[in-house]
Amino acid sequence: MKTSPIIALDFDSSQKVIDFLEPFESDVNVKVGMQLYYKEGPAIISKLKERGFDIFLDLKLHDIPNTVMFAMEVLASLGVSLVNVHAAGGKTMMEAALEGLDKGTPAGTKRPSIIGVTQLTSTDERQVREEQLIEASLQESVLHYAKLTKEAGLDGVVCSVHEAAIITEICGPEFMKVTPGIRLPESGTHDQKRIATPEEAREEGSTHIVVGRAITGAKDPRAAYEQINARWKGMEWNE
Ligand code: C5P
Repeated sequence: MKTSPIIALDFDSSQKVIDFLEPFESDVNVKVGMQLYYKEGPAIISKLKERGFDIFLDLKLHDIPNTVMFAMEVLASLGVSLVNVHAAGGKTMMEAALEGLDKGTPAGTKRPSIIGVTQLTSTDERQVREEQLIEASLQESVLHYAKLTKEAGLDGVVCSVHEAAIITEICGPEFMKVTPGIRLPESGTHDQKRIATPEEAREEGSTHIVVGRAITGAKDPRAAYEQINARWKGMEWNE
């Protein structure tokens, strides 16, 4: 997947997506999540591919290994660039996901990359302790899941910017660190708890950033994207 910011297309219809993407070139990456995929199905993937976008299909699979393997075999046939699973599903489940992807990738095409969700960026220390009953710190839990993901042979993780540097140290620079929870200093946090700016993401070693509401909720989404892209890549931009 290209290194451009990945725009989270958290919309409830194809029409809204098509209208929203109108001012964008195909060099942006897009993310299709549960809301859009459950509403529009594989047809939305075909439409986005026709327009040349690289697609992260963010369905965060988490089920028994056999079910995940067959589901991934289907997803591999859609021609997306990136898919994901919850690392909490376990090493065997992640290995099965990879096997399914390998099986489902059409001959002569590239297998989609696959990453594991460590801890959601909406999760905080209190939830880890009180709800998940994990005694380790949130960061230790994220690191543990990152190592497990790498051992299972996956290509990287979804994590917050705050864990990207240490994951690079442990899992290497090639290991993808896809980081949501990106905000500009002036925008709100919404339901995210572990947020960071595009500059921080670059400095901490994120390989990709996922940006939703800071772009989709902006008055001028294209201008917001250009600013975030410039900050992420360390370039000048015009306000
Ligand atoms: O609007 P916002 O920038 O918070 O959107 C972030 C996007 O990234 C959402 O689509 C959300 O589902 C996704 N995501 C996340 N945290 C993860 C994995 C995915 O926020 N750990």
